[in-house]
Amino acid sequence: MHQSVLITGASSGIGEATAIHLAHKGFRVFATARREEKLKNLSGLGGGRITPIEMDVTDESSIEKALKKIADEGVTLYGLVNNAGVSAMGPLERLSQTEWRGVFETNVFGLVAVTQALLPQMREAGRGRIVNIGSLTGRIASPFQSAYAATKHAVEGLSDSLRRELKPHGIKVSVVRPGAINTPFGHFEQEMLTHYETDDVYGEQVKIFKAWFEKQHPSAPPPIVVAEAVHEALTAERPQSRYTAPKSMTYAIALRNFLPSGATDRILERINGLDSFKKSRRN
Ligand SMILES: NC(=O)c1ccc[n+]([C@@H]2O[C@H](COP(=O)([O-])OP(=O)(O)OC[C@H]3O[C@@H](n4cnc5c(N)ncnc54)[C@H](OP(=O)(O)O)[C@@H]3O)[C@@H](O)[C@H]2O)c1
Repeated sequence: MHQSVLITGASSGIGEATAIHLAHKGFRVFATARREEKLKNLSGLGGGRITPIEMDVTDESSIEKALKKIADEGVTLYGLVNNAGVSAMGPLERLSQTEWRGVFETNVFGLVAVTQALLPQMREAGRGRIVNIGSLTGRIASPFQSAYAATKHAVEGLSDSLRRELKPHGIKVSVVRPGAINTPFGHFEQEMLTHYETDDVYGEQVKIFKAWFEKQHPSAPPPIVVAEAVHEALTAERPQSRYTAPKSMTYAIALRNFLPSGATDRILERINGLDSFKKSRRN
């Protein structure tokens, strides 16, 4: 019998690629998201092993309904891939409380709600895998990413705690940290930055940052590199607590871990062009 996995945010980008990849690898995949019409495209793919189900991670009744549909098929889930995510870009001073709460609702509280709903069946089975999609931004926070970075730092912390809690129950927890990946996500983030380009305080900084940022996603690796890391986390006998995707970005985490913050700041400023902004302000 094929092992079953539920993926959140499978209507686009990384979640969609992961659903297809895991199905091709033999998993029975429950692909969930809010946009049912987009999920339907997955039905015929992956050797017919993908079942699309509408689910909003911020709505407990929607989670309950989706899990009931799966239970009604007599399926016990082996894996959970918490992938659904949104961003909020802009100066911390300008982002509204609603935007702050919105990004936490999906990226943190939604992830927790789905995990809580699935844990009883995994504990009862005495086995299972949880893969949380974090981000390099969960270790390295660029300017104008405070809200998103805060949620991804939260994912790192809760995953560490959960991994240690669940070890005696036979459930393994990993974080997969994508770097920039070519999905619609980057475009949404750029659009959010556009809003602040005319800001009287931060406008000039945002423009310089955005000019660098918008070059990242179109030339970035495709989402399959993340799907492969998720597959590894679900199937390795001893999964790592963290995977970076693509692997080539591991150097960025190493720099963050070993260099003093001041040095990391200067490297980041050099990369994103904001070093010139600092100089022009001093003159
Ligand atoms: N792309 C990158 O460069 C990158 C880098 C690092 C980390 N990540 C992380 O990777 C994950 C996937 O991102 P992506 O690049 O694939 O973005 P994407 O193409 O925009 O996909 C985001 C997915 O999340 C779903 N989603 C959003 N809110 C939801 C909600 N309330 N309930 C259920 N599903 C919801 C969306 O589906 P519906 O709108 O249909 O619900 C969509 O399927 C996110 O956690 C993101 O933070 C991405």
